[in-house]
Amino acid sequence: MRLTREQRQILNGSKGEVMAKVMKTLVMYGHTFGADRLVPVSSEYNHLLTSFGLKMMTPIFELMEKLAEAGALSTQAFSVNPRPMDKAVPANLLQRLVFKYLMYSEQENYEKRLTELGLLNDKAYTCTCYLDQVGNLPQRGEILSWAEPSAVSYANSVLGARCNRNSGMMDLMGAVAGFVPRFGLLTDEGRMANWIVKVRTTEQPEAQLLGAAIAMRVKEEVPYIAGMKRWLGTELTEAVRSYLKDFGAAADSSVALYHVEELTPEAKDFGADLIKENCKVYVIDDKELERVRRSYPVLWRRKNRKPNLCFVGCPHLSMQQLKQWTLRLECGLQEERRKRVRIPTVFTAAPAVIEEFSRTEYAKRLKDTGVILSYVCPLMYMNNPLCGSLRVITNSNKLRGYSTARYYPEEELLDMLTKGEIEE
Ligand code: F3S
Repeated sequence: MRLTREQRQILNGSKGEVMAKVMKTLVMYGHTFGADRLVPVSSEYNHLLTSFGLKMMTPIFELMEKLAEAGALSTQAFSVNPRPMDKAVPANLLQRLVFKYLMYSEQENYEKRLTELGLLNDKAYTCTCYLDQVGNLPQRGEILSWAEPSAVSYANSVLGARCNRNSGMMDLMGAVAGFVPRFGLLTDEGRMANWIVKVRTTEQPEAQLLGAAIAMRVKEEVPYIAGMKRWLGTELTEAVRSYLKDFGAAADSSVALYHVEELTPEAKDFGADLIKENCKVYVIDDKELERVRRSYPVLWRRKNRKPNLCFVGCPHLSMQQLKQWTLRLECGLQEERRKRVRIPTVFTAAPAVIEEFSRTEYAKRLKDTGVILSYVCPLMYMNNPLCGSLRVITNSNKLRGYSTARYYPEEELLDMLTKGEIEE
């Protein structure tokens, strides 16, 4: 890797031993992935993945302490992933004790540390940091040092910023040094598509199911998605951005950049020039989506029992989605001549989105349906053995993939919430 004079000096200790180690970490990281040089991080804000004060993460907390002591602080303020706990979310006494005293016993200390290190504000806990209400919105072409996969996917694909799939803590290293290694999605070549995905469904595909199908097939490569114009149009409206947010999160286990024909910024500018020669083709029709859905294992012990809980909002919901879900629930409940949902239900969104939503007429209407609004990360909530025995339903492919939650498309989920019966 070619380093500038300044970078070499930092590596040799001109800014102290700790900064030299940070630089060495980035150089080794870049070396592993064939980077040619380190380039400046150019976004206004950073976003950190690690938001949870999990007791077993002591080495990470110690590392952060060392950085703070040495004054090796990020010059960028940052947002961070959602909190793992919220009293508003239903939990029994045992769960609450385990969360507070065993699992996330370091939460308070950790949040203090994040504030010292440059957290944007105390509402900046969300994976949807790029929403207007949160305000961490990178511009096209900016270089980022982020790690949260769903946010990386959105920033690359919908905003046209440039970011690799970094790991947690590597995001902080890049922000502290102000440089990231240039390879993969930071280069023009790395942003070219090696797959064409042809969508030929007879109705708009469920965003999270489509994302999951594409991720399973293209693995870590870049897809160019054609055939979505009839469903999404050619403008990145608020509804379309919400759709792509969910689509990208469902695919984020492997896909960190996708192009949608005539819609996403690079596809609009370069069209088919973005597609590499001899690329592979994947056709998605109704049958294929059904096949993918049927391949999801059901991990509940008692598969036909009524669910205990429903989570909607992984990734966090946008304002448009909160309003839309409120209207759909009201309609569904009216049809059933009921007032409140039949399954305990939690919608999750960024604290800043919740704050703005609470000032609209929709807030009371959603509350009247019995739905709880929370800023929690559903996955962090479920990531323990106690929740493994719960029967949780969700429309999130990501939550399904990393927990025992059971996936349902939105229409079916809505039916279950209003009727209280399990869909087979
Ligand atoms: Fe966001 Fe947590 Fe889901 S970080 S994407 S709500 S797993």
